[in-house]
Amino acid sequence: MNGLTTDYLFKHHHILGIEQFSPEDIAHILSTAKSFKEISNRAIKKVPTLRGKTIINIFFEPSTRTRVSFEIAAKRMSADTFNISSSMSSATKGESLIDTARNLEAMNPDIIVMRHGFSGAPHLLKKHINASIINAGDGTHEHPSQGLLDLMTVEEHKGEINGLKVAIIGDITHSRVARSNILGFTKMGASVYLAGPATFIPPGIEKLGAEVCSSPVKAVQDADVVMALRIQQERQNDPLIPSLREYAVHFGINKELLKNAKPDALVMHPGPINRGVEMNPDVADGPQSVILDQVTNGVAVRMALLYLVMGGDKTSNSES
Ligand code: CP
Repeated sequence: MNGLTTDYLFKHHHILGIEQFSPEDIAHILSTAKSFKEISNRAIKKVPTLRGKTIINIFFEPSTRTRVSFEIAAKRMSADTFNISSSMSSATKGESLIDTARNLEAMNPDIIVMRHGFSGAPHLLKKHINASIINAGDGTHEHPSQGLLDLMTVEEHKGEINGLKVAIIGDITHSRVARSNILGFTKMGASVYLAGPATFIPPGIEKLGAEVCSSPVKAVQDADVVMALRIQQERQNDPLIPSLREYAVHFGINKELLKNAKPDALVMHPGPINRGVEMNPDVADGPQSVILDQVTNGVAVRMALLYLVMGGDKTSNSES
């Protein structure tokens, strides 16, 4: 696979965050995803790579893109998949997360893909079970497959990530996507600039390698990538902004703000979008938007992750 000519081997049994990856790991995941992408364009969208493997998707929070994308990825690799949502799981009857996981483990799955509202939930799980854990978003911590699909989309459109200026605007405080993207883009040599209402900028975020700007105009100035984040109202006990209307006026991505970026800047959003709040519809659907490319690449990235945690490189090398 990928015409590997070096001694590089992907050594991660679990995918918990971009934090765990070296730039070489990220480059390898992206090149593996690139090689898998064409499978989704075939008349018969299926390869036998993960035949006989069992994958459980357990989502304790709502999801459209990530859940469906992981399921499509697994099915395109011929794995057997099972989906559990929080309302269908015995967690509603008081079962602990660890007990749920250990009972699932007793059925011998190979991979558990989990989204959970608590930061660190997948890290806790990995101490108790042997199956590979893939973090599909944990609280406000990380969303590694989203970060990787964003990197893939930028690399696809810009050729390389190194040297780019990336502006991220919005609710950084509650965004696992922001953390994964700050880590991913800076590891790959891009500069990341953040802007948002003061209540949406967590103290110390600069330690991850990003620069906090005093306004969206400053963050977006000469940017190659302009990414808006969703306002995560479900994670705010009290409103942290006066109103959505004011937020839209001062921090929404509109055509005027975009004029400050490079003319060929990419417009991104992880979804789901609150149109007219985080981003105007004419920008979300405009010529610079790659939002649906992000979703398309999500399938390829997740195919790559499933393949790699199952020791794909080792299998390919031993077959070659
Ligand atoms: N980007 C993202 O995680 O979307 P979902 O919540 O729909 O999975």
